[in-house]
Amino acid sequence: MSSRTRRHLTLANVRQQVVGINARVPIFGGKRIRYVNLDNAATTPILKPVLQQVEDFLPWYAGVHRSTGHKSLVSTTVYDEAREAIAKFFGAHPDHNIVIFGKNTTEVINLLARRLCLSQGDIILGTMMEHHSNDLPWRQVAKVMRINVDREGRLDLHDLEQKLTMHHRRIKLVTISGASNVTGWINDIHYIASLAHSYGIPIMVDGAQLAAHRAINLLDPKDPRHIDFLAVSGHKLYAPFGTGVLVGPRHLFEKGGPALVGGGTVKLVTLSQTSWTNPPFKEEAGSPNVVGAVALAAALKILDELDLGEIAHHEQSLTDYALQHLGKVRGLKVYGSTRPGDPNRLGVISFALLGYHHALVAAILAFHAGIGVRSGCFCAQPYLHYLLALDTKDMVRLQKELALGDTQHLPGLVRISFGMYNNTKELHRLVGALHEITSRPSNYWQDKLIWNEKLGCYMPKDQRLNPVPFSLHE
Ligand code: ALA
Repeated sequence: MSSRTRRHLTLANVRQQVVGINARVPIFGGKRIRYVNLDNAATTPILKPVLQQVEDFLPWYAGVHRSTGHKSLVSTTVYDEAREAIAKFFGAHPDHNIVIFGKNTTEVINLLARRLCLSQGDIILGTMMEHHSNDLPWRQVAKVMRINVDREGRLDLHDLEQKLTMHHRRIKLVTISGASNVTGWINDIHYIASLAHSYGIPIMVDGAQLAAHRAINLLDPKDPRHIDFLAVSGHKLYAPFGTGVLVGPRHLFEKGGPALVGGGTVKLVTLSQTSWTNPPFKEEAGSPNVVGAVALAAALKILDELDLGEIAHHEQSLTDYALQHLGKVRGLKVYGSTRPGDPNRLGVISFALLGYHHALVAAILAFHAGIGVRSGCFCAQPYLHYLLALDTKDMVRLQKELALGDTQHLPGLVRISFGMYNNTKELHRLVGALHEITSRPSNYWQDKLIWNEKLGCYMPKDQRLNPVPFSLHE
């Protein structure tokens, strides 16, 4: 597939390759200012070269692995090439591993949970820091046991060892996030893998949060530190076209039927019998998302070119800068490591501002300073509840409030998260805005905003600040 010659990308010029980097948004008073996106942990923007690759491919878009026309053959080839490129990027062993496309990390973890064919009494060893997507799917198929975390949100490796020693006979998988989407804490996945493997237990890494920020290498399957399964999402890797992948050992998927059945999964179907095709195709029911696969492969190529070591270094300096300056904001408390230069944390920083509700802070940042952040529990409620030291009484109260339809007072934090294109100028704006927030009482800001139950966030009372610059209804 040919793509137009493009400018050599470096970390210094990648910012201008971010689609929408110059977008301007309205703030209180009606003025428009340049948007600052500090919500990369939720989703990363698309890069221009990724979009270009997609545009170059679209004239050749057709059915994959189904038809014989020229375009179908091109689409099929490209889809297979994308699979190979993704496998290579993560150091997957070509004879041992396969790459299964799904729509995102959540979907492929659900797929794995179904495909492990667990029995009653089997244990999945997860952690207290997991995103719901790496906890809830396992609850449906097995007993979930969780490794503890400490007050800073770090995994307790001693607890991991104890649980492995005590329960290894029943544990069928250790499943762990590569990095937390709340505290940014990076787990030592290869060390944890070697512990799990010493008991013959495989490991799955939820790489959704880690993959765009640190190099992940599955390693040779003979290496005790290797990773058995890896799940990632394109939308957190600068390729938001609805694709995620699960990388795992081929042999596991050779057994049994797929989690989702339908077109593309079979060799022969009679009215009473089905003969499944080979993995990975067996696991990808329905026409595949070849556009998403093209985008993901293109984005990974760029990350490779830019060098994840360099990206990590840049994001580490942003993190240090942020932590140093956030520490000077009155009443601000960071949850997670604040150690300068801590190599074990990503640029994901969650904090509380004493006297200001987290959703209020997020709305003020949006409508006073044009800064996009996320607030709440970030789909990791048990971890947040633990970090916030909430107890059973708090849970009862929350359940009562929710039963009455009140979502306004749910606990949570404010989260900022960096991408490789963010810079210190943006962080300077954030810190300035936080100082301004704390210079006025909560009700000063609250008077400008109104809780929107449907959206689950505060919105400005001034309707002029609600414009939708892009709408399908126009
Ligand atoms: N998992 C994503 C987040 O942390 C959606 O925001």
